[in-house]
Amino acid sequence: MSTASHIEIKPSVLYVGTPVMLISTENADGSTNLSPASSYWSLGQMLVLGLLADGQTAANLTQRPGLTVNFPHPKLWQHVEAIADTTGATPVSAAKAARYVHEKDKFGCLGLTPQASELVTPPRVQECALQFEAMVRRTTSGVGDYLMVEAEVLRVYASPEIVVPGTNHVNPQAWEPTIYSFRHYFGLGTEHGFRPTSDTAALTAFSPVP
Ligand SMILES: Cc1cc2nc3c(=O)[nH]c(=O)nc-3n(C[C@H](O)[C@H](O)[C@H](O)COP(=O)(O)O)c2cc1C
Repeated sequence: MSTASHIEIKPSVLYVGTPVMLISTENADGSTNLSPASSYWSLGQMLVLGLLADGQTAANLTQRPGLTVNFPHPKLWQHVEAIADTTGATPVSAAKAARYVHEKDKFGCLGLTPQASELVTPPRVQECALQFEAMVRRTTSGVGDYLMVEAEVLRVYASPEIVVPGTNHVNPQAWEPTIYSFRHYFGLGTEHGFRPTSDTAALTAFSPVP
């Protein structure tokens, strides 16, 4: 395809489709903060999160390294929205003042259930089928107003219905993350293919999409 077939655009965001997560962290007084986020990548057991520097999640993780990362099913998107315009930070930063309000009880607002963690202090979100407990290993200030957080995943929890019985493999036919694409929430669409190295290739009823 030649570049002449494309037009130049200036989108306000570059959220091309990343998983939605609910990150729980520990406030200075021992209470829990919870934040929706989607800037995420992982390699091996490490994950890297992109966090706005003025948020409570960023502040907590520079002081107290334990966190949980919880992946909601798309049907829970309205719960995510219920805390989308809140911050645990007080005062609310000037950059956020027009839209965000301070909320101390994010879990109450979210309408989902805290579930005790085993290796870190902040709780998990019970209704999320996939949950990580993790520990920050390094934080790095970005060139913009954000913080890069590198965290080691210490333990992964999965609801039995998304696990291939008797294995450590998440069944991609049963698991569905919420995908954040240009500020819209999606589930997964049709499967288009898989890697030969997939742990679960034998399970798939895949037939190539033309
Ligand atoms: C779907 C969704 C994805 C978001 N992704 C991020 C993100 O990746 N990083 C980030 O810092 N904020 C992200 N935000 C915005 C934060 O949730 C928001 O800044 C919030 O106020 C942070 O809360 P806190 O200050 O209590 O940490 C996202 C919000 C939504 C609704």
